[in-house]
Amino acid sequence: MAYQRKEIDIAQVQRQKDICGEILGRNQQAGATPLAMVDTYGCQQNEADSEKIRGYLAEMGYGFTDNEFEADVIVINTCAVREHAEMRVLGNVGALNHSKKARPSQIIAVCGCMVQQEHMAQKIKMSYPVVDLVFGPHELWRFPEHLKAVMDSHKRRFAAAADEGAVIEGMPIHRDRGVKAWLSIMYGCNNFCSYCIVPYVRGRERSRHPEEILKEARELVAAGYKDITLLGQNVNSYGKDLEEDVDFADLIRMINDIPGDFLIRFMTSHPKDATEKLFKTMAECEKCAHQLHLPVQSGSDRILKLMNRVYTREKYIEKARLARSYMPDLVVTTDIIVGFPGETEADFADTLSLCEEIRYDAMFTFIYSKRQGTPAATMPDPYTRADKQRHFDALMELSNTISGEKHKEYEGKTLRVLIDGETGKDEYNLSSRTNGGRLVHLKGDRSLIGQFVEVEIVSSNNWALYGRIAP
Ligand code: 5AD
Ligand code: SF4
Repeated sequence: MAYQRKEIDIAQVQRQKDICGEILGRNQQAGATPLAMVDTYGCQQNEADSEKIRGYLAEMGYGFTDNEFEADVIVINTCAVREHAEMRVLGNVGALNHSKKARPSQIIAVCGCMVQQEHMAQKIKMSYPVVDLVFGPHELWRFPEHLKAVMDSHKRRFAAAADEGAVIEGMPIHRDRGVKAWLSIMYGCNNFCSYCIVPYVRGRERSRHPEEILKEARELVAAGYKDITLLGQNVNSYGKDLEEDVDFADLIRMINDIPGDFLIRFMTSHPKDATEKLFKTMAECEKCAHQLHLPVQSGSDRILKLMNRVYTREKYIEKARLARSYMPDLVVTTDIIVGFPGETEADFADTLSLCEEIRYDAMFTFIYSKRQGTPAATMPDPYTRADKQRHFDALMELSNTISGEKHKEYEGKTLRVLIDGETGKDEYNLSSRTNGGRLVHLKGDRSLIGQFVEVEIVSSNNWALYGRIAP
């Protein structure tokens, strides 16, 4: 049956905020400010989710800490994309035995994509008694209710039933990235790439109404945010599920029309849905960064087909060329999976040659990780981990070489950057980003944080650029 769009009405979210109010009352009566720790694994979507958890916790009167021994409430927001992240989470959750022993009233919650998988929720239930509360991404908006139930009953609670997901407005958000903000525009994914767990744990694609997004964007600009990243698993299919006649390019144009000096970024784009209209809009909208994260995953047509990516190498290259024809200064980055089941030397050589052809500014490379329940998990996978590691190392080397060469091209140029924080180093104490999102280290007064400045690039390495503020 087709997905039925679900919207949670504001009264239900208000009920959650009322529960926050109740917990706030109790916390105020207790005197000292209680502390919470929120630890986030995985993608930007998860970081945005953690900002909502912190939003609720702040309404309950919690302050924040990074020290688990100080925390009254700990929330671990997990990722399921690769096994490595899951192993790290389980190791860290197990280690919380120590903090709980020192502070027996401590409440430990594990949420996010990992626990939306039935077998992982079971594993925590059976083997990690230190965990009091488990909730999946679809239950995040009900976090106050779940937390209060655990507080009141002193019983463990598991809330991660299968769900296709809803659109929820009105949750509080506690942002702490300085002048940079995440803005979720849609949730879920319908693509079912054969290796990927995301569509199973985050539900179907569903877009927020444009007026809700615009309202939030206006608030961000008014609050002084200068760098706004629109988030979605596949932003290029924004609006397809809405009754309004609006697509992602239209949304960019509407946000671009908000008065103010700020940048619009977005991620992630599925190549199959990246349109000429989008590239044209990016080029025409002066606030839209010339940055495109366009995951290719593989350069081999055979593997792309097995991955269910529904584009060919040629089509991908054509799209990247088209984007660059509109924006010659476009920064293009990608994700690549090495060692997909059955990937041969020839397939891998196709990936290397595609990277040489596109010349990405940066590449995020991953060794394939088998995800239970996905189609790729049952595909024959005859190659050894050592073969995959060898390919991974070769790809990293190519990626570093190309990034280094591209960074060299910036030297001697003057460009506009947004200063976004401190590095903790003496010589280059400030960090900043170019319009295309490349990292630039600078020397200057910290009062410049949040400002756009002109910078002359004086040197570079594979990872970053170094500059001085132009007179
Ligand atoms: N194994 C390795 N990498 C994966 N990704 C998604 N699923 C897997 C997996 N099973 C990578 C893809 C995606 C990025 C977010 O993570 O490259 O674009
Ligand atoms: Fe996973 Fe593919 Fe959806 Fe990205 S587009 S979240 S890789 S299924």
